[in-house]
Amino acid sequence: MQIVPATNLACPLDQLPLQARAVGYACANGHSYDRAREGYANLLVVQHKASLDPGDSKAMVQARRRFLDCGAFAPIAARTFDIVGACATAVDAETAAPFNVVDAGCGEGYYLDRLAKLATANSPACTVTLTGFDVSKWAVRAAARCTSDVTWLVANSRHPPFVADSVNMILCLFGFPIWEGFCSVLKPGGCVLLVDPGPDHLIELREIIYPEVKRSEPASLETAVAAGFQLDHQDGLRFEVELPNPAAIADLLAMTPHAHRLGEPGRAALAARQSLTVTVDVRLRRLTYQP
Ligand SMILES: C[S@@+](CC[C@H](N)C(=O)[O-])C[C@H]1O[C@@H](n2cnc3c(N)ncnc32)[C@H](O)[C@@H]1O
Ligand SMILES: [Zn+2]
Repeated sequence: MQIVPATNLACPLDQLPLQARAVGYACANGHSYDRAREGYANLLVVQHKASLDPGDSKAMVQARRRFLDCGAFAPIAARTFDIVGACATAVDAETAAPFNVVDAGCGEGYYLDRLAKLATANSPACTVTLTGFDVSKWAVRAAARCTSDVTWLVANSRHPPFVADSVNMILCLFGFPIWEGFCSVLKPGGCVLLVDPGPDHLIELREIIYPEVKRSEPASLETAVAAGFQLDHQDGLRFEVELPNPAAIADLLAMTPHAHRLGEPGRAALAARQSLTVTVDVRLRRLTYQP
């Protein structure tokens, strides 16, 4: 797979195409966005900011980086790559344009970084662009420090900064899909890949921290269907991960929503564990946009 720079970015203020400049990006109306030292651009304008420092905190980003860097979730990245590759190859056979992949809520960039590495290691059967964005500047800053093949942006999924009808595939891993935002930039026939926790995800950890555990299915797709999406593929992935020490357990906890929910007894029970084996149970669902 060949990776080329994305050329489908749009100005968050007027949706005009953004042209790459030596120091960042600019639109024809004169709005300009500098590239930070780390290589990302901040396209999160104040009108699209719900708080002063939105999204995951620096501490959450650092915990996720330490945990994911150990390779514990590598099978999820590999499965995602297979799905992206299959979609990109099918579309590439019909058109010469690059297949534009966007990771919405990319966090500290683990999955796109893996995708870029896997893409480079595979023969160039198709051409892709890889763009990751997140509303947390801490996350994007960490992402941009590692991978230069990817375009990294601070932006909000409610207003994805891409030209209308330009995105082939949106990845949303452990994230928050905002279907109206996704519709505004996807090509008809484009798709969204959702990767969400299944009922047994991290069940061993949840059994330690909560008096009672609910085994819930991923969120229903009603809103997506109403917005013009149809589910065309679903699949599960299940494996075990060994957390060899309290630091690894603490990092896993810190990157999940449980970190904010658990009470003191749960925190103490988890802190007493020297190691833990957890089940990873995820659902992958691909939805096609057919407006
Ligand atoms: C649970 S984390 C998942 C991060 C990454 N996808 C992963 O799996 O490692 C959710 C991410 O969504 C980001 N986020 C939350 N609301 C967002 C929004 N409206 N637009 C873009 N990103 C958002 C957070 O900052 C956080 O990095
Ligand atoms: Zn503009």
